[in-house]
Amino acid sequence: MMSRISSDVGQLQSVFSFTLLSFFRQILILIIGITLLLVTTPKLSLIMLATFPFVVIGALFFGRFLRRMSKERQKDLAETNVVVEESLQNIKSVKAYTNELYESGRYNTKIFKLVGISLKLARVRGLFSTFIVVLLFGGMFFVLWMGAKYVSQGIMTIGELVQFIAYTGFIGGAIAGLGNFYSEIIAAVGGTERIRQILAKESELEIEKHQELDLSGSIEYKNVHFSYPTRKEFPILKGISLSIGQGEQVALVGQSGSGKSTIVQLLMRYYDVDEGQIGVDGNNIQNYDIVGYRKHVAIVPQEIMLFGGTLRENILYGRPDATDEELYEASRKANCYDFIMSFPDGFETAVGERGVKLSGGQKQRVAIARAILKNPAILILDEATSALDTESERLVQEALDNLMKGRTSIIIAHRLSTIKNVDRIYVIEDGQIKEEGTHDSLIDNKAGKYSLLAKLQFE
Ligand SMILES: Nc1ncnc2c1ncn2[C@@H]1O[C@H](COP(=O)(O)OP(=O)(O)OP(=O)(O)O)[C@@H](O)[C@H]1O
Ligand SMILES: [Mg+2]
Repeated sequence: MMSRISSDVGQLQSVFSFTLLSFFRQILILIIGITLLLVTTPKLSLIMLATFPFVVIGALFFGRFLRRMSKERQKDLAETNVVVEESLQNIKSVKAYTNELYESGRYNTKIFKLVGISLKLARVRGLFSTFIVVLLFGGMFFVLWMGAKYVSQGIMTIGELVQFIAYTGFIGGAIAGLGNFYSEIIAAVGGTERIRQILAKESELEIEKHQELDLSGSIEYKNVHFSYPTRKEFPILKGISLSIGQGEQVALVGQSGSGKSTIVQLLMRYYDVDEGQIGVDGNNIQNYDIVGYRKHVAIVPQEIMLFGGTLRENILYGRPDATDEELYEASRKANCYDFIMSFPDGFETAVGERGVKLSGGQKQRVAIARAILKNPAILILDEATSALDTESERLVQEALDNLMKGRTSIIIAHRLSTIKNVDRIYVIEDGQIKEEGTHDSLIDNKAGKYSLLAKLQFE
């Protein structure tokens, strides 16, 4: 996507700003030149024009090649960029495993492939130019020879021949130029195909208009089946049914990879279910206006990303029009006010690439403040306390308790101590609900999965 947005669009830009302009200029010269020729020396001109069909057929033939190869080259270019991006993003892992050589090897392989195809492309373009020039000069010499014959036979004067040669020179230049520009334009058309693929995709929402919804936040999953679009044949959720009343707090526990995050991502409508349905306030969530709906759901995700910008901007991301008072209050509730104020720049501290790097726990609290500010009816916490020490966990737990009051909340937790007090716990295993109940009732079921987990953790 990045490469389509930057390099494919860049290619188009240069075609639209420079190449197309020159292309039209050459065409204009061609038209005027040919008209003049036809008027002054019709017979010779017709002979010369007879070479044109060959040029056109050749152009179509080469154009097909060019377009396909250019598309391929842009794809390779994108892959090359991905390697750079990945290794820069994970620079610490690269260093930790001293895999610099490996990464540069990976890059080399891709680059050589790219160079290979670029050279091939250049060769085809060169061939095309050669073809045009040969045809053109061949034609011109033939016409000159005919002209000389006409002059010697007295059909044409020397002056007319000179005039003809001058015009033909113009036209020849224009045609040679056209060949070059033509191949450049064709190459850019390959790029537009990749851009048009994106443009043709139906948008999931209309940014400008949306409906305000009033949701209280009861949730019901009915026999939900789901597999990710990239791995259609691999079912992740296999018949999840659960219902959560308004204001209830439930927890999902289960092994890593059992499908907990997937369950809540479906609630956000990042993906749609394959079978069954998810209802909120009694209506299928697919029937809601997606913007209006998402305004009522907040998620503190498992992997928190902050945006480059200040802490203030990052927290206000939850609700950009919040007042300073609301901002501070949300930060206090999320227990991040104190550490933020301990920075010299306070809320104006820059984070992300060019600013300070927050610790895992600090990031989590910033994300919680953001969610508090959004004031949602439904709250999703995916491992929101996993990166914390016991003391901060207590602080964050407090923050979360504040946040969850009166809201329908789904908490995903590995540490069972954080979910002792929720209304209901669902044990997820392999995309299905294996057990459900309160902490106490689940503990009592000695043969159950939950009591086994609890035993491992608490003893
Ligand atoms: N975007 C994705 N595309 C394809 N498969 C995915 C995707 N995200 C997750 N999966 C797969 O779905 C399964 C469930 O993943 P999920 O993230 O829901 O697990 P989880 O229960 O949240 O695990 P954890 O406790 O480690 O967070 C895993 O097998 C995972 O490989
Ligand atoms: Mg998860």
